[in-house]
Amino acid sequence: MKCVASSADNTFYTFICSLTALFLYSLCTLCEASSLDEGLLVTTIATEENDGFKRFLKTAQQNDLDVKVFGLGQVWDGGDVKMFAGGGHKVNLLRKGLEEYKDRSDLIIMFVDSYDLIFLNGAKEILDKFKKLNSRVVFSAEGFCWPDANLMNKYPVVSLNEKRYLNSGGFIGYAKDIYEIVSHDVIKNRDDDQLYYTKIYLDPELRKKWSIRLDNRGEIFQNLNGALDEIVVKFKEPNSYLYNIKTGTTPIVVHGNGPIKVEFNRMAAYLTEGWTPTGGCKLCKEDTISLEGLKEEDFPTVMMGIFIERPTPFITEFFWNIGNLTYPKQKIDIIIHNAHEYHRKDVVKFTLANKGKYNSVQLISPDQEMTEWNARNAGLDECIKRDCQYYFSLDSTVQITNTEILEVLIEQNRTVIAPMMVRPFRLWSNFWGALDPEGWYSRSEDYVDLVEFKKKGLWNVPHVTQIYLIHGHMVQKIKGAFINGNLDADMAFTKTIRDMGNFMTLTNLEHYGHLVNNDYFDTSHVHNEMWQIFDNPFDWELRYLHENYTQALDPNTTLLQPCPDVYWFPIFTPAFTLALIDEMENLGTWSNGQNSDPRLAGGYENVPTIDIHMNQIGYEREWLYIIQKYVSPIQQKAFTGYFHDLYPQPPTSIMNFVVRYKPDEQPSLRPHHDSSTYTINLALNRPGIDYQGGGCRFIRYNCSVTALRQGWMLMHPGRLTHYHEGLKTTAGTRYIMISFVDP
Ligand SMILES: *[C@@H]1O[C@H](CO)[C@@H](O)[C@H](O)[C@H]1NC(C)=O
Ligand SMILES: *[C@@H]1O[C@H](CO)[C@@H](O)[C@H](O)[C@H]1NC(C)=O
Ligand SMILES: *[C@@H]1O[C@H](CO)[C@@H](O)[C@H](O)[C@H]1NC(C)=O
Ligand SMILES: *[C@@H]1O[C@H](CO)[C@@H](O)[C@H](O)[C@H]1NC(C)=O
Ligand SMILES: *[C@@H]1O[C@H](CO)[C@@H](O)[C@H](O)[C@H]1NC(C)=O
Repeated sequence: MKCVASSADNTFYTFICSLTALFLYSLCTLCEASSLDEGLLVTTIATEENDGFKRFLKTAQQNDLDVKVFGLGQVWDGGDVKMFAGGGHKVNLLRKGLEEYKDRSDLIIMFVDSYDLIFLNGAKEILDKFKKLNSRVVFSAEGFCWPDANLMNKYPVVSLNEKRYLNSGGFIGYAKDIYEIVSHDVIKNRDDDQLYYTKIYLDPELRKKWSIRLDNRGEIFQNLNGALDEIVVKFKEPNSYLYNIKTGTTPIVVHGNGPIKVEFNRMAAYLTEGWTPTGGCKLCKEDTISLEGLKEEDFPTVMMGIFIERPTPFITEFFWNIGNLTYPKQKIDIIIHNAHEYHRKDVVKFTLANKGKYNSVQLISPDQEMTEWNARNAGLDECIKRDCQYYFSLDSTVQITNTEILEVLIEQNRTVIAPMMVRPFRLWSNFWGALDPEGWYSRSEDYVDLVEFKKKGLWNVPHVTQIYLIHGHMVQKIKGAFINGNLDADMAFTKTIRDMGNFMTLTNLEHYGHLVNNDYFDTSHVHNEMWQIFDNPFDWELRYLHENYTQALDPNTTLLQPCPDVYWFPIFTPAFTLALIDEMENLGTWSNGQNSDPRLAGGYENVPTIDIHMNQIGYEREWLYIIQKYVSPIQQKAFTGYFHDLYPQPPTSIMNFVVRYKPDEQPSLRPHHDSSTYTINLALNRPGIDYQGGGCRFIRYNCSVTALRQGWMLMHPGRLTHYHEGLKTTAGTRYIMISFVDP
């Protein structure tokens, strides 16, 4: 591989070249001849080095193609070619750059765009195909006649599967001819380059003079706009390739021209080995850096922006996870935007718990009434001000479980990188695989495979949100990116990145955590997360379900039976039982223990207790679901063959209530039957610590359960055999939760 110094003589380019040389030297023992040795020089115009350009160079070097870049560091004057005609600047830069080759009839020059283009093969294959096309100059072809549709009929007719119109994003020919073509006429920088070449091609005399033809079948060049359904990615070791099913060709130069950039980027990730079925992700190991062996004080500085834009469940765990990250805290500065009064105490708790540990923590509190857009921009500004090396943006919905996430993301060394996070049991994630024409969410064909980890690798995606790391070198360039017209803040940000030709990388190489659903979070209770069993079942279980519950459910473990046909199993954490007590005490409307009870249909309770019903705290629906989901399966294990008629409907349970026993109130309960097929009895607090005495005695068996366990449930038949009484609480307060199931 030779490196050709560009006329703009750019140090970056020289750097890339030396890297390339090193890379190739170490990788191949028998390097192929460089493309210049074979007589091919690739040229391109690039005024700045974005991710698209780096990808282009990388695929060139992988295929041993010598590239000469014109225009680097110059101010682009060719207009916004994404939306409008333009690009004459390219012709002018090329004319100047090719001057030194104008007399070379031995050298073949290929000109290609670079921000949206990759190579899939090397000089030999390109030249073979070029020679077979039997012309001195070959332009790439596409299905749209752009920018002047009126010229359509002037084009030679082609057969059905071929592309008829010229595209100026790629052409190849003898140096002398190419030079003559680019210097044939004057063109203003703002004029359209494609129109310039089109006019030459459509002039029969000029066409003949330079022996120009179009690559109508996509032998060398594949323009993707309007052709996405004609090509497929074929996986093959060592390199995947592109196959045109209409013409049967395997194009070498793939150009994501026009408005299909997102789809091109997605495909290019496969073609450049972001993932192959056999090799997995080879790309993942390339262009990485290592933090290994670094002293803590030498770690890069990270600005962490934390955004609490709406009330979010499980924020306690959110902050714990941040506190538990292994990254050296003194290298982290934090800015927190909390938009809600509801979370003020959570933020204070976090800042107090971490006082002095982070390099700095600053707060934008609800009083400041700052909008999300401004707050997110403020995060970037803070990063710029502190000259941070990385900006790590986190929304309150993110539950990080991989404590080394920051190291992992930094080491991957991408412009913007997001760890994939998904709402558990859902397809909802923090990235979009595709965009619809209006720039909104659209599902890519591989979206589900990524979300379900069927494919693991690095993915080039058009939109990431909620958690991402931005390389420090970008931060200055995207100052203010979170505001753009009426766009949502995150959409404004990702549009900026896309429009710059930079990439957002999604990694799903490992599990990094998951997302909490905060679309609607009712904060009217004391312990609001208790109510999250439907919206956030995963986090709900983590906080509230006893860690040994599943073990009790396992058919191979024998359930404890402290008395005959009285089963005993762990089901809830203390966090749940204490929250339940709290909710009841907060409501405070305990019944008076009289027989007359207006809460009941008959208005009369035979064996009254001091209690509050679940429906009084608005927890009836949730509780019945708990019985259905967690209690019913244990019941079926304990009392085989009995299940409710309407299973899997919730079992009927009309009486669900928390009972309070106290020496000076109601200390015990006289022997009785329950109006249930079976009864569940959950211990909410601790005997011997929170209260003395208490327990349940089954009279027929003269058997008592007194050493109750917090969060454990007793389950026993309600009638006939299990006549029982509540034993006397002698000190403190004892709470239990009772349900009469299938009365
Ligand atoms: C890491 O990223 C920076 C910025 O994109 C780049 O300049 C550098 O070459 C990368 N390092 C490696 C080893 O790829
Ligand atoms: C780490 O997580 C645990 C719970 O998993 C929590 O108790 C602890 O406070 C966390 N540590 C920090 C520093 O936040
Ligand atoms: C769960 O069971 C294991 C033994 O099987 C025990 O060590 C552990 O303490 C139990 N967890 C709790 C919360 O009781
Ligand atoms: C129960 O034990 C049997 C035999 O030892 C085993 O094959 C089976 O996988 C176990 N089931 C579970 C759920 O662990
Ligand atoms: C019931 O059990 C207690 C102790 O567990 C014992 O003292 C008592 O004699 C038993 N009563 C009967 C009727 O067996």
